[in-house]
Amino acid sequence: MTDLGFVHRWVPGDGDASLPTLLLLHGTGGNEADLLSLGPMLMPGASVLSPRGNVSENGAPRFFRRLAEGVFDIDDLIARTHELAEFVGAAANQYGFDATNVVAVGYSNGANIASSMMLLRPGTLAGGVLLRPMVPLEPETPPDLSGTPVYLGAGRMDPIVPVENVEQLAELLRGYGADVMLTWQPTGHGLTREDVLSARDWLAGSGVAGS
Ligand code: MLT
Repeated sequence: MTDLGFVHRWVPGDGDASLPTLLLLHGTGGNEADLLSLGPMLMPGASVLSPRGNVSENGAPRFFRRLAEGVFDIDDLIARTHELAEFVGAAANQYGFDATNVVAVGYSNGANIASSMMLLRPGTLAGGVLLRPMVPLEPETPPDLSGTPVYLGAGRMDPIVPVENVEQLAELLRGYGADVMLTWQPTGHGLTREDVLSARDWLAGSGVAGS
C-alpha cells in the first residue's frame, strides 16, 4: 500500500458521520504514534490520520525546516505546507473520509504547520486545535477563514513561544475571519492535563462535531 508521501497511521473512528477526521500533527522529534492517544481523549469516536513530518533535523522528525529555534525556512515551510495539504486530500480518497471535514490537532511544530495550512490552503482544514503554536508566516494572499473555529492553547511561561507571538497569531487568524479561542495555561511548552480538558470542552462546543 502506498504511504501517500508520508509515513502515517490511519485509525478509523466509530462511523459517526457527523464527526470530523482529526489530523494529528506531532512536535519536533515526535512521530506518527505520539498523539494517537490524544485523538480519542479530545473527540471519542473520531477517525484519526497521523503523519510523520518528512523533515529530519539531526534525526528529529519535523514538518518543515528551521534555521534556528523559532526562525523558520519560509520557502521550505510553504512547500511542505502544500505537500501536507495534498497528502490530506490523497488520504481522503484512499480511506474514504470527508475531505471537507478535517480538523487539525497540532502540537508545537505540528501546530505551526497546521496554522500555515490554514493561511496558505484555506479549505483544507475545517478547524484546528493548535497547542503551543506561534506565527508560522504571513501569507501574501489573504485567506478567507470566515467562521473557521480555531483553538489556541498557549503557555504563559513558554520559553519557546513569547506571549506576544501567540497574541499576534490570534490577531492574524481573526483578521481573516477565523473564530479564535485563545487560552492560557500557567505553564511552559509542555502539555498538561488542563490543556487536554480545555481543548476537549472547546471542541464539544465549537460546532466542528456537527452539533
Ligand atoms: C518550530 O520549530 O516549529 C517551533 O520552534 C516549535 C518547535 O520547537 O518545534
